[in-house]
Amino acid sequence: MKQAKFQSPTGMHDVLPETQKYFQRIYNVVENMANFYGFKRIDTPIVENAELFSRGVGISTDIVQKQMYIFKTRGDDFLALRPEGTAPVMRSFFQHGMFNLPQPLKLWYFGPFFRAENPQAGRYRQFWQIGLEVLEEQNPAVDAQMIQIFYNILQELKIKNLIIEVNSIGDSQCRPYYKKLLSNYLRARESALCGDCKKRFRKNPLRVLDCKDEKCQQIKSQAPQILDHLCDECNSHFKEVLELLEEVGLPYRLNSYLVRGLDYYTKTVFEIFTETITKNKDQEGEQGDESRKSLALGGGGRYDALAKLIGKKDVPAVGGALGVERIIQAMKAIPVKFPAEPNPHVFLAQLGSLAKRKSLKLFEDFRKERILIAESFGRDSLKFQLNKANKLGARYVLIIGQKEALEGMVIVKDMESGKQDNVKIEKVVSEIKRKLKRHK
Ligand code: HAM
Repeated sequence: MKQAKFQSPTGMHDVLPETQKYFQRIYNVVENMANFYGFKRIDTPIVENAELFSRGVGISTDIVQKQMYIFKTRGDDFLALRPEGTAPVMRSFFQHGMFNLPQPLKLWYFGPFFRAENPQAGRYRQFWQIGLEVLEEQNPAVDAQMIQIFYNILQELKIKNLIIEVNSIGDSQCRPYYKKLLSNYLRARESALCGDCKKRFRKNPLRVLDCKDEKCQQIKSQAPQILDHLCDECNSHFKEVLELLEEVGLPYRLNSYLVRGLDYYTKTVFEIFTETITKNKDQEGEQGDESRKSLALGGGGRYDALAKLIGKKDVPAVGGALGVERIIQAMKAIPVKFPAEPNPHVFLAQLGSLAKRKSLKLFEDFRKERILIAESFGRDSLKFQLNKANKLGARYVLIIGQKEALEGMVIVKDMESGKQDNVKIEKVVSEIKRKLKRHK
C-alpha cells in the first residue's frame, strides 16, 4: 500500500479511538486516587521559558543537553516544549503565591510532554504523563505515601509483577563529598568509560551511574556507594522512609545506582517497574531458562533543592510521574478487558427528504430522554438501514417513509418478534419508553 504523504512527526503518535478507552480508564483511576488523597488538579502551559528547565532540571542532564525542543518566538522569547512537569508546577507555585495557601499543597496533572529522544519501544518524543506533587512538606512519611499512591494506581489498573526501586542520593551537605569520591574513582578509569560518560563525569559523575552502556555498568559495579556516605540527616530520613514502606508492606528493593536523570532530586528517589518473565524454549521445544524484561512505568523522589533554583524560597517537596504509554503497553500485555459498549435500543430509519427532516427532530427527542438511539441519515436504502440496525443489536426500528412523514406517523418494528405497529410521531418516544421499561 502506498504510504500517505504526511505522517505524524517521528516519535509522535496519534491516540486513535481504540486506545482512548485505555486513556479513559487510566484517567479515571488516577482522578479517583488523587481525589482520595486530597490532590487538586493543575494544568500548566505546554511551553515554558527554556531557562526554567536548564536551571530546574539541570544544565548537564540529557533532557536539557539533548532532548529539549527549544525555539525562539518572534518576540525573542526563548521557549521550550515542556519535557517534564515538576519545574512548571514549582514555577506556578511561586507565580501565584501558592505559599499563602494552607500547606502542604498537593497537586496533580495529566498531559503531554516532549523529549527529542531516539524513538524506540516505549520511548516517544511526545508522551503523556500523570504527575503528583506535594509541596511544602518535609516529612519522610510523605515520601513513602507518594510511592504508595503510585503503587496503588498501578495495582488498581491490574498491572502485575510490580517492582519498586528506591535509593537516597543525599543533599547539599553530603552529596558534594560523595561526588568527589566518585569522580576520583571514575577519573582513574576514564579511558574505559563510554564516549558520553567521558564527557558526563566531569560535569556530574552521578550521571555515569545512570548509564546503560556495558562498559560503564562494569565500572559502576565497583564504584563507591552513596548510601555509605549519607549525612546523618539524609540517613535518618531514608531509614524512616524504608521503615514506613515496610510498615505498609510495599515490595521495594534498594538500588544504590538509582540516581534518576534529573538534577533536582535530594534524598529519596524511586522508580516503579513491571517485569515480564518469558520462558524460553530450548532446541527440543522444552521449557528452558527464563528471560526477564523490565519496563519503567514511573519514577520520582524528593526535590527540596528545586525551589531555590527557580524561586526565592526553600520549598521541601516530593513527587513523581507515571508514563501513560508505558502503562498502556503493560495493560495490553495482560490483557485488560473492557465492558462492551452498550447497544442502541432503537434505530431510526428514514426514506425521503421529508422523512429525514422529521427524523432529525425525533432523534433529538430521544436524546433528551437519554434513550440510546442510532441512525444512518446518510443512506436512504431501507435494506441497508435494517441491516445496520440488526448489526447494532437495536431492539426496535422506527421507520419513517414518505407516507408516514405526510401522515405524522412512525412504524415501530420489534426486531425480536417481527411485529409492527403504527404510532403517532408525538407519541413514539413515550411508547418506546413504555416498551423498554417492560423489558427491564
Ligand atoms: P521521568 O522519570 O523522566 O520523571 O519520567 C517519568 C515517567 O515518564 C517515566 O518513568 C516513563 O514512564 C515516562 N517517560 C519518560 N520519558 C518518556 C518517553 N520518552 N516516552 C515515553 N514515556 C516516557 C519525570 O519526568 C519527573 N518530572 C517525575 C517527578 C515528578 N519527580 C518528582 N515529581
